[in-house]
Amino acid sequence: MPDTDTALPRRNLYGRRGSRLRGTKRDTFEDRRARFVALAEDGTPAFGGRGPVWLEVGFGAGEHLVAQARANPGVTLVGCEHYVDGVASCLSKLDAEGAENARVHHGDARDLMDAVPEGGIARAFLLYPDPWPKAKHHKRRFVSDENLDSFARILADGAHLRVASDIPEYIDWTREHAGRHPAFAPVSDTGEAWSDWPGTRYEAKALREGRTPAYLTYARVAR
Ligand SMILES: C[S@@+](CC[C@H](N)C(=O)[O-])C[C@H]1O[C@@H](n2cnc3c(N)ncnc32)[C@H](O)[C@@H]1O
Repeated sequence: MPDTDTALPRRNLYGRRGSRLRGTKRDTFEDRRARFVALAEDGTPAFGGRGPVWLEVGFGAGEHLVAQARANPGVTLVGCEHYVDGVASCLSKLDAEGAENARVHHGDARDLMDAVPEGGIARAFLLYPDPWPKAKHHKRRFVSDENLDSFARILADGAHLRVASDIPEYIDWTREHAGRHPAFAPVSDTGEAWSDWPGTRYEAKALREGRTPAYLTYARVAR
């Protein structure tokens, strides 16, 4: 079993990958991964051609992805995650729901984003990204000039990018980076979650531990 859907990572990828699955667990995982796979073997998107495509980067165990897929049957939800246990958990939920409008990329979200045609994404979610608090690790943060360029390329004109975080310094980092990017215009920046928000596992942890999340929305400026 390759470690991820893209066998040869082209970039450094930090954070946990999870442990190698074995036996029947691995067989079930492989079967589900093949059924929900987001990239064909030749690396082209295999999103199923069903309605607009929404992208979630770093879905964790997939609670938000699965809830959005259920609530929006006319939309295809494409999620990316490199932590195998999270991918397995998300695939198990999608399987149990009989979801037909979700695709999962087990690997680096940046590889999938590279494969998406310009303007191919109608909404994107980056929810509780890893904060990488040490200054020497800031370059690992998913909110970066390079990744914002990539979001700018794949988002359709007017499409929203939603970012949530409970780390004040990361929230300011996002405001600063998105705020100076010419392709993004701020839409909202609030302590109130979006009205269609099902929550995520990390958010529940943040609230339990007394941290206050912020919910930031940016619109892709028309080309
Ligand atoms: C702090 S967790 C948040 C998970 C989930 N969004 C939530 O709110 O519960 C961040 C997740 O992003 C994933 N991640 C980080 N960088 C990634 C990348 N380049 N591609 C795919 N997943 C990534 C990590 O593996 C981790 O599961």
